[in-house]
Amino acid sequence: MYRPRRYLMCPPEHFRVTYSINPWMDLSKPVDVRLAMAQWSDLRDCYRSLGHTVDELTPHPDLPDLVFTANGGLVLEDRVLGARFAHPERYGEATVHEEWHRERGCVEFQRAQHTNEGEGDFAVTDRWLLAGHGFRSSPLAPQEAQEFFGRPVIALGLVNPRFYHLDTALCVLDDGTAGDGADGDGGSVRGREGSTVMYYPGAFSPGSRAVLERLFPDAIVAEEADALALGLNAVSDGHHVVLPQAAVGLLEPLRERGFEPVPVDLSELLKAGGSVKCCTAELR
Ligand code: ARG
Repeated sequence: MYRPRRYLMCPPEHFRVTYSINPWMDLSKPVDVRLAMAQWSDLRDCYRSLGHTVDELTPHPDLPDLVFTANGGLVLEDRVLGARFAHPERYGEATVHEEWHRERGCVEFQRAQHTNEGEGDFAVTDRWLLAGHGFRSSPLAPQEAQEFFGRPVIALGLVNPRFYHLDTALCVLDDGTAGDGADGDGGSVRGREGSTVMYYPGAFSPGSRAVLERLFPDAIVAEEADALALGLNAVSDGHHVVLPQAAVGLLEPLRERGFEPVPVDLSELLKAGGSVKCCTAELR
């Protein structure tokens, strides 16, 4: 069900690809900062037009990946588990996020002991916290998050380097509150308890794939082409699903389940291996 959200974003004013820490980052491909800014502004305006609040982080000239605010931490019920980045190129971002939360008066801020890249690898469902590990976040991060938030954590192993963060391979579509009946016949997913998700099985280890099948039997299972368009790097407010426009194969399955897809073009940011969700941290 739709709920207005609060998001944290950072304008890609200093966006560039000068180091390569994931397979999408090709140093020989030029980046158009003005285009990145225009696409990013469209995304921000899109959220506002959907009734959401967007806070902005001040960009930093030495931190080109700061635009990917999802990686700065996990904010849940006013507690913040700050990120500890895997790569030195991004270490500085953790401090920028920490200062922002402290200035905003966050009471419970904890800088993680174990490497975790925030909502890049953590996703919140109605009952659980899903936690990806394998490329960035430490396998010890799920345990640390469970202790901090007091919420059961499901650890999921990532195995394909193109899908180096959980949010490149899985998206939580709703928080499991009863649907509004928009799906007419009751649908197989909305209108009953339990979160629904969409994910790309090829990104996960065999055991983790089995866990996802068990927890989310009604999930939208994405095809490779849509996953490679970073179609799963989407943001849902419970009704609208903002996603990269190239992921056309996801549109019908979303509509069938009563969601309204909102395609956007973030092709310039894809050159750094990020899209809609990476640019969006949710302040819960
Ligand atoms: N260039 C960034 C990195 O490799 C992209 C981060 C994308 N963020 C995300 N939440 N998946 O770290």
